[in-house]
Amino acid sequence: MGKSFQRTLVTAALPYANGPIHLGHVAGAHLPPDIYCRWLRLCGEDVAFICGSDEHGVPITLAARKEGVEPQVIVDRYHAMIVDAFERLGVSFDWYGRTSSQTHHETSSEFFRHLAAKDAFTLRTEQQLWDPEAETFLADRYVRGTCPKCGHEEAYGDQCETCGTALSPSELVNPRSVITSATPQLRDTTHWYLPLGRQQQELEQWIGGHGDWKPNVLGQIKSWFVDGLGDRAMTRDLPWGVRVPEDVAEAAGVDAAGKVLYVWFDAPIGYISATREWADSKGEPELWRRYWQDDGTRLIHFIGKDNIVFHCIIFPAMLQRHGDYILPDNVPANEFLNLEGNKLSTSRGWAVWLHEALDAFPADYLRYSLCATLPETRDSDFSWKDFQGHINNELADTLGNLVNRTLTFAHRYCDGRVPELTEPSDLDRATLATIGDRPAVVGECIDTFRFRDALHEAMGLARAGNKYFNDTEPWKTRKSDFGACANTVHVSLQLVGALSVLLEPILPFSCERIRNMLRLGTMPSWNDVAEPLLTPGAELGEPEILFTKIDDDAIEAQLEKLREEEAKVDPVTNDSASETAYPPLGETIDFDTFLKTDLRAGTILSCEPVQKSKRLLRSQVDLGFEQRQILSGVAEHCSPEHMVGKTVVVVANLAPREIMGFESQGMLLFAEDRNGRLSPVETSGEPGAAVR
Ligand code: 2FM
Ligand code: ZN
Repeated sequence: MGKSFQRTLVTAALPYANGPIHLGHVAGAHLPPDIYCRWLRLCGEDVAFICGSDEHGVPITLAARKEGVEPQVIVDRYHAMIVDAFERLGVSFDWYGRTSSQTHHETSSEFFRHLAAKDAFTLRTEQQLWDPEAETFLADRYVRGTCPKCGHEEAYGDQCETCGTALSPSELVNPRSVITSATPQLRDTTHWYLPLGRQQQELEQWIGGHGDWKPNVLGQIKSWFVDGLGDRAMTRDLPWGVRVPEDVAEAAGVDAAGKVLYVWFDAPIGYISATREWADSKGEPELWRRYWQDDGTRLIHFIGKDNIVFHCIIFPAMLQRHGDYILPDNVPANEFLNLEGNKLSTSRGWAVWLHEALDAFPADYLRYSLCATLPETRDSDFSWKDFQGHINNELADTLGNLVNRTLTFAHRYCDGRVPELTEPSDLDRATLATIGDRPAVVGECIDTFRFRDALHEAMGLARAGNKYFNDTEPWKTRKSDFGACANTVHVSLQLVGALSVLLEPILPFSCERIRNMLRLGTMPSWNDVAEPLLTPGAELGEPEILFTKIDDDAIEAQLEKLREEEAKVDPVTNDSASETAYPPLGETIDFDTFLKTDLRAGTILSCEPVQKSKRLLRSQVDLGFEQRQILSGVAEHCSPEHMVGKTVVVVANLAPREIMGFESQGMLLFAEDRNGRLSPVETSGEPGAAVR
């Protein structure tokens, strides 16, 4: 950690309050900063950890319309659910705000006003889609129509979920209003744009000073710079959001009625508003300034990769133009967490909701398994089977076992006290010495946002502890050489003591229980761990079972639940619905026609996403007699890691064609289920085998 900083302001992406949060959110943007802040606090650092609900934006108004309630009803419901789920997970926010709060409306209007006064915006009048029946403009998801790229008939005004293309409402073919189904008309409307192009040089210079940022983050930013920054509209015609300030509109000669700030303008300002509310709650209303306006603060935004452009380009541009604020020091964005080998998708019902996972398992189980699976450098996969393995083999068999056997021995044979270390063996000394560098090693991992490594390094001490316990065989020495047995218990207790602090950022609930068992009254600081924490002679608490193994039925129940949720979703609209019919059978063909298609078994040797495409995967396929490169439009359904090693059916005599600059030499076959989900057609045949 840069010692020149006096304090750290950590933000976690504000979840949209249009639904509960799922494990993908947590792994992307909430667990990592919680681990980070817990560690900073243990190091005695001054830290403010800020988050809140993002309560504006079209998905919220659409959810409200669907239920026939006011948007406030929707955000109140989900805000409460999200707050509760975070609390149960032990996420230690200093303040969790919400963007419908008065402080936020004031803070974001004031920010907008300040930028307008500094001439930071350009006004532009353009034709946009208008619903003549509802008498309203149709922004973003208020329009559906046919995707101009792939022909999907239910594409949204801002994106086609089938091919992933980013769209604007006017690009849709046959657009229709989501509100009334009317065909929209074009009407003039005026909006405030942030001319980012003007700031590109300044932004590039600032990013240039941050060559240490994660490569996945720098890569995305650079591609935005290469494409060149354009103007981005910072206002919308919508009934819900922070209103465009009347005075600003009046000065610009624009009617402010029905105009609000763009959700991505106001949401990041939510970090500032929440910090203000935190300061107010402490009775120090000016305190927030120290965290946002003093160069001694290190600002770190934790987000998922879909938020990179907003946190690394648009919000910094807003902060630069404003002039009174510091800029982020780092934005350690994570990649995505997949689920059981498939992309997480709330609209397709493919998600694990945090509150439901917490109903089934203790918070630390989820924290542990998610930490071990964080998508830090590439997309990663959460599977319930791996979750079971993490808990049973690592938490229970390694950490729980060490704690339990150590405390049980201390109680049975050492009077329930920490025994003295007398005439320690070389192994006793060496094992005790392994604790010494752990705070620095684990701390370095956390400081550089490598939380998986931090877990691995800390758990290394538990693994070493078990090995030491086995090697010293205290169940034998207690009869043959009691001093040696007492030394094993002493050293093991010191390891357990160290682990109760080193793992605290990741497993706060269990570590507290361990410290209670050890009767470690006051919380040691991170660096205290370098020395033994327990005093010989000190009394110990009763051992408790820390972790219970998860049986196969509990895992099967989770998998079944996923399958059920997924089956409820309509594959075309992605709305909850009952089952849809299978597609009608194709026209009958004769046998010779069928034989023209040469199907072969092919093993996927490697598979990677195609840059700039959300849909395409590029695989190298072994056909036995030769190797082929084949592109498949399935990235939204299958993760590349999941494809590698599979032997699948390949259409081997399809004429090659070029797709996004790559030659595709054949086609991999996928089965499409009634939820529109694709899975590869696998075969046990050897590569090259003809499929007939
Ligand atoms: O992507 C999202 O879920 C947004 N609600 C994140 C907002 S982060 C910040 F800018 F407010
Ligand atoms: Zn499309």
